[in-house]
Amino acid sequence: MIVKVISVSKVYEGHGNKPHIINAVENVSIDINEGSYTLIFGPTGSGKTTLLSLIAGIIYPTDGEIVFHNIHLSSSNDSKISLFRERYIGYIPQNTLFIKELTVLENILSPNSFLKRRMRKLKSYAFELLERLKLSEKAQARPFELSGGEVKKAMVIRALVKKPMFILADEPCSELDKESTKEVINLFNEEHERGSAVIIASHNPIQFKKRVDLYTMVRGQIIEYKKGGKN
Ligand SMILES: Nc1ncnc2c1ncn2[C@@H]1O[C@H](COP(=O)(O)OP(=O)(O)OP(=O)(O)O)[C@@H](O)[C@H]1O
Ligand SMILES: [Mg+2]
Repeated sequence: MIVKVISVSKVYEGHGNKPHIINAVENVSIDINEGSYTLIFGPTGSGKTTLLSLIAGIIYPTDGEIVFHNIHLSSSNDSKISLFRERYIGYIPQNTLFIKELTVLENILSPNSFLKRRMRKLKSYAFELLERLKLSEKAQARPFELSGGEVKKAMVIRALVKKPMFILADEPCSELDKESTKEVINLFNEEHERGSAVIIASHNPIQFKKRVDLYTMVRGQIIEYKKGGKN
């Protein structure tokens, strides 16, 4: 399985002091192979979140094409795409995407309707992950009762609980202290060893023990690519 990002662009209309066009992502091509480890690094506003949201299928490209295995995102119907995303992608957004009426545990388990039959197993894995990230005590809390770092950890757990084939993590460590950062990176590394492809976007350097494919983004464009480099 492979994700191909082919000459993708995303243009936004800006509504600042006067209307203007923002080329958030410009003619970007990336292949994400099964089992790869990718870091998209770049300054604030360089287009990392836009690129990840495009890959996650949350927004659509203005130009270009994204292909998952043999599913073309532009020509597939919405239900097919959402089924695919639910099954294969674990997405950790930069900003919260929690349902505020549900508890932390319910939020962690909620996007997994396709796994309903395995709910008991899923729940026990959720508790294992909550334990790992020292969040067990908050399982029955509502999202508003969590700190910024705790929200981020819960979103990491929500993405990992279904053992996805692709992990898309947008600034997964931005709200975390040193110890939690280490634990989250360890979890990503374990998922990677299990065979998942891991894609992380970050504006801060992250220390990996592993070699990663490093893309540097500036003003919507990939300006550098280092395969299997040390970051
Ligand atoms: N929905 C939107 N409408 C208009 N402009 C947007 C929208 N989302 C992002 N932008 C603009 O697109 C550009 C890229 O934003 P993006 O969030 O992808 O950057 P980023 O690299 O993730 O930044 P950060 O490191 O701060 O998270 C920025 O100039 C931003 O202001
Ligand atoms: Mg971002």
